[in-house]
Order: sequence, then C-alpha cells, then structure tokens
Amino acid sequence: MKKVCIVGASGKLGQYMVQHALERGWSVVGVCRARSVAKLDRFKDRITIVAGATNDRDVIRTAVAGCDGVLTVLVPWGVQQYASGTAQAVMDHAEPGARLVFSCGWHISRDGQDVYSWKFKTLVAIAGRIARLLRLVELDDQVEACRRIFASDTRWTVVRGSDLEEGESQGLPVWSRHVGDAVLASNRTRRVDFALFMVAALENDALVHEAPAIVGCQTPSALAAREPRPST
Ligand SMILES: NC(=O)c1ccc[n+]([C@@H]2O[C@H](COP(=O)([O-])OP(=O)(O)OC[C@H]3O[C@@H](n4cnc5c(N)ncnc54)[C@H](OP(=O)(O)O)[C@@H]3O)[C@@H](O)[C@H]2O)c1
Repeated sequence: MKKVCIVGASGKLGQYMVQHALERGWSVVGVCRARSVAKLDRFKDRITIVAGATNDRDVIRTAVAGCDGVLTVLVPWGVQQYASGTAQAVMDHAEPGARLVFSCGWHISRDGQDVYSWKFKTLVAIAGRIARLLRLVELDDQVEACRRIFASDTRWTVVRGSDLEEGESQGLPVWSRHVGDAVLASNRTRRVDFALFMVAALENDALVHEAPAIVGCQTPSALAAREPRPST
C-alpha cells in the first residue's frame, strides 16, 4: 500500500485530506501539534499520528520516512518562519523522488505573471500589515517558503487556493497557471475540493513543477469556460 504523510493534518484542510487519502487506499501518517492530536480522534484507529511542530526537523524526518508522497499545509501563522521551516524540513527529509504537494493561497506568484484585482491586492496588503503588527501572521514567510520550493529539484506541486467555503464536494476543481485567467474569476472553492485536488495531485505527474491556481468546478467562471465559444 502506498504511504502518504500529511503535514498539518489536524486543520480543516488537513482533515479533509486525511479523509480523501484513506478513501483512495493510501496508508496515512499525520503530523500535527501535540495540542491538536484530539482533533484527529475519528481517524485514530486508521492512521499513524506524529505529534510536534511541523517546522521541527526531527518530527518531519520521522514522519516522512518511507512515504511515497507528502501533502503539506503551508500556514502563515506566527512570526518564527513556520511556513519556510516546514517546507525546508519536508524537502530535506522526504524520500528521494517522493511527490511533494504544498498548499497556499492565490497571493503566491511563481513567475510574476498573475494579475490581481485592486481589491485582492488591497486586502492582502492591509491584512498582512495588521497581522504582522499583531505578530499573528507572517505572509512574507509563506512567500519565502514557496520561493524555496520553486527553486528545488524535488518533485513538487504548489496548489494555490482561491477564497474557500464549506459545503458538499462538487468534484475536482479546475486550474489555471495564472490568477487573472477568466476561468478563475469566481474566486471560490469548497475546502473539501481543495483537499481533493491536493490528494489527486499525488498521482498526477502533469502537475510536477506546476503552481496551479484552482477554482470550484461548478462556479460560474469554471462553467463559462466549458461553454463552446459562439462563432462570429
Ligand atoms: N482560509 C482561506 O480562505 C484560504 C484561502 C486560500 C488558501 N488557503 C490555504 O489553505 C491552507 C489551509 O487553510 P485553512 O484556512 O483551511 O486552514 P486550516 O486547514 O484550518 O489550517 C490551519 C492549520 O494551521 C495550524 N495552526 C493554527 N494556528 C497555528 C499556530 N499558531 N502555529 C502553527 N500552526 C498553527 C493548524 O494546526 P492545529 O490543528 O494544530 O491548530 C492547522 O494545521 C493554507 O495553506 C492556506 O494558505 C486558505
């Protein structure tokens, strides 16, 4: 049975990923902070849990040993290089050739070709500044984490999530290389489907060295992109 490590398994996205991975027959190792282990109680007989900070290199070394894939929730919390420390530990300790899939938001740009609305840019700038002042969130460190991933020769994918919502699965999200592409205009994905995309990416080699920006497959912009163009 193939084995996947899920780093950040106790969060909302993480728990959905555990569910999808188990349903697809993966053996699962989950990493989460010790205080959050109880959030994984409903899975505890079916997964192995490694408790500890996700940027603790020893924790990650233990957790990823023997894994064919690693799914990592890159969170911008705290001001101690949590995201970059986590990404670096995963890249350094994962098995050679393992599939590495990381989550982040649309604000991450791989090649600078993304086109953001003024509303999005203002929100990121204001939220980032306030959060940094309160020492709650370090968006710049998520940027640094992704810079390191993009420069690495591991078999990575960075999945860039739109605004998220809860609700029943609608199916695998659609993706595009650049924010600003028409198919992404609805800017909304069900969290359960973000997780589905992450787990499916483990077995989709076409996504190696891609940073797909995703959107729900039933959103108006995704449906419009499927319509045949009217002939002129
Ligand atoms: N929320 C959005 O609208 C949105 C939009 C686009 C992309 N994303 C991306 O989606 C991913 C998950 O986002 P989410 O909103 O669904 O969150 P989530 O899955 O609920 O994840 C939160 C994670 O952060 C951890 N965490 C919380 N506080 C922490 C702290 N102080 N120090 C260290 N870890 C802490 C949690 O661990 P514990 O269980 O231990 O607390 C959990 O693993 C992220 O990569 C994010 O960038 C989110």
